Amino acid sequence: MQTINKAVIPVAGLGTRLLPVTKSQPKEMLPVGRKPCVQHIVEELAVSGLGDILFITGDKKRSIENHFDVDRRLQNLLQKAGKQDRLSDLEFEEMDLNFFYTRQKRVAGLGDAVNCAEGFIEEEPFLVALGDAIIESNHQQPLIKRMTDLFAEKNPAFVIAVREVPAEDVSKYGIVDLKEEEDGNLRVRRMVEKPSPHEAPGNFAIAARYLFTPEIFEFLEKTLPGKGGEIQLTDAMQMMLKHDFEAYAVPLAEQELRHDIGTFESYFRTFLHYALQDKEYGYRVRQYLQEVMDEGN
Ligand code: UTP
Repeated sequence: MQTINKAVIPVAGLGTRLLPVTKSQPKEMLPVGRKPCVQHIVEELAVSGLGDILFITGDKKRSIENHFDVDRRLQNLLQKAGKQDRLSDLEFEEMDLNFFYTRQKRVAGLGDAVNCAEGFIEEEPFLVALGDAIIESNHQQPLIKRMTDLFAEKNPAFVIAVREVPAEDVSKYGIVDLKEEEDGNLRVRRMVEKPSPHEAPGNFAIAARYLFTPEIFEFLEKTLPGKGGEIQLTDAMQMMLKHDFEAYAVPLAEQELRHDIGTFESYFRTFLHYALQDKEYGYRVRQYLQEVMDEGN
């Protein structure tokens, strides 16, 4: 079985829906509970056994690179001060991962960002994880592991994670038309980027994780600007489907949640979700919210 070792995290977007917060700092570095969003994602990749991580980055995104450096000076300082608990907050620095960075020359859409990974990927299949979406999982098999297993079994051109969304939300996501096969696997028939409710081929949305063979690059090259004038990854995948490439979908399990920080509403929700789970302060946050709600009544 071919192991998948390389992952790509696109983080070059402008994050315009979160202005002014994102004017000079990356949205991917916004705190989600105690960690920046992108650290949750990198930890998910590490747990799933991916070792080489390429960030597609841009100006104003330097703090992402800094975050994953090993800061020996800070570690020594904390050690000398006897702050062991603070030191353990830096354990992520020691994850057995190799980080690579390349710049998206101009912010031209997610498809264009993924296309920047071509030289890094060479002939291997690879994973793409969006830099602003966290998958929280208590499933015994991580989502990425289920995706790689299906990939190994079916040998398709790509595998995507999907989840059901309410009909009124289909215009926010890439929406896919799925067909259940006899063995229970979900074959992807068609996909549309951010369709209006009447154009949507169902209510399964792509859930921020993709597994591709390098064949995707040939189709990204040919993809013209689509929704929002951007080169859309969904359009390149749809072109592959039209050319009879096989693709499969892995649905998120009940114990899995996709948290997104792309808009203030979703960011506030995501932050609260993690703050409420905090081992030290979650209870206090819950109490505070309760008080605020009670006052409102
Ligand atoms: P989004 O489309 O949600 O992010 O991309 P955005 O473009 O930054 O957001 P808005 O619309 O301006 O608010 C999902 C992920 O893909 C990256 C983003 O950084 C984000 O992590 N991305 C997007 C790129 O790397 N390059 C792009 O051209 C677009």
